[in-house]
Amino acid sequence: MISHYSVLYREVLEFTKDLKEGYFIDATVGGGGHSYLILKQNPKVKLIGIDKDDYALEVSKERLKEFEGRYHLVKSSFKDLDKVVKDLDVKPIVGILFDFGVSHFQLKLPRGFSFQREEPLDMRMDTSSDLTAYYVVNYYTEPHLLKVISEYGEEKFARRIVKSIVDYRKRKKIETTKELADIIYKAYPPNLRHSKIHPATKTFQAIRIEVNNELNEIEEALEKAVRLLDKGGVLIAISFHSLEDRIVKNTFKKYKELKFLEILTKKPITPQEDEIKENPASRSAKMRVARRL
Ligand SMILES: C[S@@+](CC[C@H](N)C(=O)[O-])C[C@H]1O[C@@H](n2cnc3c(N)ncnc32)[C@H](O)[C@@H]1O
Repeated sequence: MISHYSVLYREVLEFTKDLKEGYFIDATVGGGGHSYLILKQNPKVKLIGIDKDDYALEVSKERLKEFEGRYHLVKSSFKDLDKVVKDLDVKPIVGILFDFGVSHFQLKLPRGFSFQREEPLDMRMDTSSDLTAYYVVNYYTEPHLLKVISEYGEEKFARRIVKSIVDYRKRKKIETTKELADIIYKAYPPNLRHSKIHPATKTFQAIRIEVNNELNEIEEALEKAVRLLDKGGVLIAISFHSLEDRIVKNTFKKYKELKFLEILTKKPITPQEDEIKENPASRSAKMRVARRL
């Protein structure tokens, strides 16, 4: 199985070192990396690991097997956090972690997240859900597609890209990641095609966010997390782009004003040089932490 490198793991461990006896929720258990370290560091803590991806649950089960009896894995979206906690009847909740985005192994599987290889346009984290990248790209109306790519991708060439997609799909459906990446590449101004970041990066991010309803689910889940935490419980959120971070920041601020949360990170924590060197994908990570009052 493909392993996963857990982002900001030292910092996550720092904020979870004084956990009270109770349950910790890893709302994005992924490869089980953070969960493993948290269980190891806190012998009195039990863990609930949530993921919407079946493969992630398989990987994390393998990773956590030495903690048999201290963890429970659930297939769910984190937006249904309250339901998961209610069904399992667990309390107190002493901490909740969100590590948003895609994991390394999802990028390596042929699920259409990467534009580096020829793969079907899918991008679903939960492969039993209905909406795929293929549908978004081939069937969304021009204005709808423009809204997705400009809002979720913050792509300044969204209009040119959407026009090229719409022209292309009049002739034939866009089937693969590579086909889409080529259309985007050609839609980009020629002098900007060879910059460090591939022209398709932002559009792929936007479509992935749309397919997985990522931003709406994050907002809903954070609100629920604040309410589920026990007094003194810690809430950690790691985001990978400004849209996610903005939701985290605003939710923390709202609950600080309501006297539900104390914010422990005045500015978001970012990875140190050595981590970025070892794991370049961590470079855009931002972690915010709050404590339940
Ligand atoms: C960056 S990975 C987490 C890696 C994990 N922290 C580790 O150390 O191995 C993010 C995970 O969150 C999952 N995910 C994303 N959105 C989700 C959602 N709305 N509900 C549940 N899981 C979600 C993805 O399937 C992926 O496995």
